[in-house]
Amino acid sequence: MLLPIEYGKKSKALSMENVVEWLKNNGGLKVIDEPLDVELEIPHIAYLEVKKGEESRPLLFTKPIYADKGIEYDMPVLMNIFANKELTRKIMGRDPDELGEGIEALMKFKPPVTFREKLSMIPRLFALKKIFPKRSGERGACQEIVIEKSDVDLDRLPILRTWPEDGGRFITMGQVYTISLDGSMQNLGMYRLQQYDKKRLGMHWQIHKDASHFFDQYREAGKKMPVSVAIGGDPLYIWCGQAPMPHGVFELLLYGYIRNTNARLVKSLSNDIYIPSDVDIVIEGFVDPREMEMEGPFGDHTGYYTLPELFPVMEVEKITMKAKPVFSATVVGKPPLEDKYMGWATERIFLPLLKPMAPELIDYNMPENGVFHNLILAKMAVRYKGHARQFMHAFWGVGQMSFVKHAIFVGEDAPKLDDYEALGRYILDRLDKERIVISDGIVDQLDHASPTMLVGGKLGIDATGAKVEKSDGRYLDDADLLAKMREIDTSIVALKQYFQESANPVTVVAVRKRENQKALIGRLSVLAEYLRVLIVVDAADNDLENPYMLVWRVVNNIDAQRDVLLEPFIAIDASNKNELDGYTREWPADTLCDEKILESLAERGVIDISEEMKMDFGLTHFDKYPK
Ligand SMILES: Cc1cc2nc3c(=O)[nH]c(=O)nc-3n(C[C@H](O)[C@H](O)[C@H](O)COP(=O)(O)O)c2cc1C
Repeated sequence: MLLPIEYGKKSKALSMENVVEWLKNNGGLKVIDEPLDVELEIPHIAYLEVKKGEESRPLLFTKPIYADKGIEYDMPVLMNIFANKELTRKIMGRDPDELGEGIEALMKFKPPVTFREKLSMIPRLFALKKIFPKRSGERGACQEIVIEKSDVDLDRLPILRTWPEDGGRFITMGQVYTISLDGSMQNLGMYRLQQYDKKRLGMHWQIHKDASHFFDQYREAGKKMPVSVAIGGDPLYIWCGQAPMPHGVFELLLYGYIRNTNARLVKSLSNDIYIPSDVDIVIEGFVDPREMEMEGPFGDHTGYYTLPELFPVMEVEKITMKAKPVFSATVVGKPPLEDKYMGWATERIFLPLLKPMAPELIDYNMPENGVFHNLILAKMAVRYKGHARQFMHAFWGVGQMSFVKHAIFVGEDAPKLDDYEALGRYILDRLDKERIVISDGIVDQLDHASPTMLVGGKLGIDATGAKVEKSDGRYLDDADLLAKMREIDTSIVALKQYFQESANPVTVVAVRKRENQKALIGRLSVLAEYLRVLIVVDAADNDLENPYMLVWRVVNNIDAQRDVLLEPFIAIDASNKNELDGYTREWPADTLCDEKILESLAERGVIDISEEMKMDFGLTHFDKYPK
């Protein structure tokens, strides 16, 4: 197999210096000239746009305003850059699968033996030199304008407030560049930044992330930590920022690999951090480890708010920018989001990097409605007893994969991992209580379901085995089964069965919760002959006819150790938790659009929205079942 990095062959997406022009020509950029507020209006429009699937387009807002402070910006806001798969492919310059194959080939790289092999290797070795970022001593385009500390006013940037209950305005696509205390390691991570005032930003690097590890070094040494936050430039920088590279490996190596050209870096003016020369804006500053401040709440990519928590603070020293900068931003919330497409590329490119620890892994898929870390589907070749279990523990133990809460393994003969209908049936035909692992481990800092932060339950399903016998249980239609259940408990107000032809049909019930649902499940044991897998959700804000959002809700809301029962049938309590469940944390609210803003945008003809769309994506509150 050829290495994808071929001498002289540059990726097609190279002319990114003018990203807006490039997106007009390659991505169907929609330009919106109407004055629109950075608080909620612009984010709501972008949030709706990305839900249009492959039709979704990048958006340029040319007249952002901050009505609350009477500010009109002359800097446009660019959103939804990774609008769909096709555009993501173009940004990457190649199909992400192809890029993954190239990495696999690199990892299998063998020294040449014959003279001919040696000769043919030369151009490839040359190309490898393109991987490493190049530092320049000159000033970059991103430093055409310099704003000194005394003039720094973050209000002058069109920073968005994305959700009604957000604690303020947040930079949502900041490329955060940091260096280790000894200067030997450089890191790029995408972390959101809350604007506290004119000169200070909250640094939401979560505890497991690289910048947080660097921060610990500075705190222990009692030194201020330099940080440079870049905004804009080639969208590939943004993608690199979210890529889960191993600790100590600079993400811009991926830039060089994918673009087949070295990332060109220049030094920040007030600290020693190097940033790409062609980004639009650079916010330079220092984090004083002694200062922490409440960050949030923030409507997050889980579709829930993350609640306020203490995070470090950056004091801005300087802002530099291009003469005509563009402010790029994203909005996160309930899926699908822009991170669906970024995550898809990541998943494809990182497949070969998982193989050294799991060589028999054939493929994996982290569906966006599982908000990535809540659900992984993996296909593997089983070589020995316990093989799938071994993979579960391997995944739960390494890097950001260890955030995964629910892992389902299927065999080589399984359907494609994104054919959810066929795959669902395959899994249910092999679902066996004996092959379910319930364990615990670390969870994403954003996880709200676990009883305590940072650690929580894990569920592993080994569906690699033979089909299980379809039990001779009895089957009722939805209405009859609901009637039987309501004779036992009237808190159950709706019911729908999925995969009835499989060995393990799934029954989903909507409840008006008034007790711990284990008690309800216990009472339903008299109906065990009709039930194989029972899932309980709250009646409000759930639609039993919408499996996409049900999956989102269920995998978000459960902690396997607390919420999954295996007897008398498999039962999953995916209701919102509270004191009835011994849950002592604060249960976060869903991210919901502001109805008045939606109305006003629709009246002005900026968006087109139906009641159906609101419910399909949980944009606003709904409650369709009897009280
Ligand atoms: C849109 C978006 C926003 C993100 N926001 C954060 C954040 O605020 N904090 C965080 O720790 N990770 C956030 N992430 C995830 C990190 O970017 C990701 O885990 C990355 O691999 C971290 O890099 P690191 O391993 O170098 O720390 C975000 C990802 C995306 C796509």
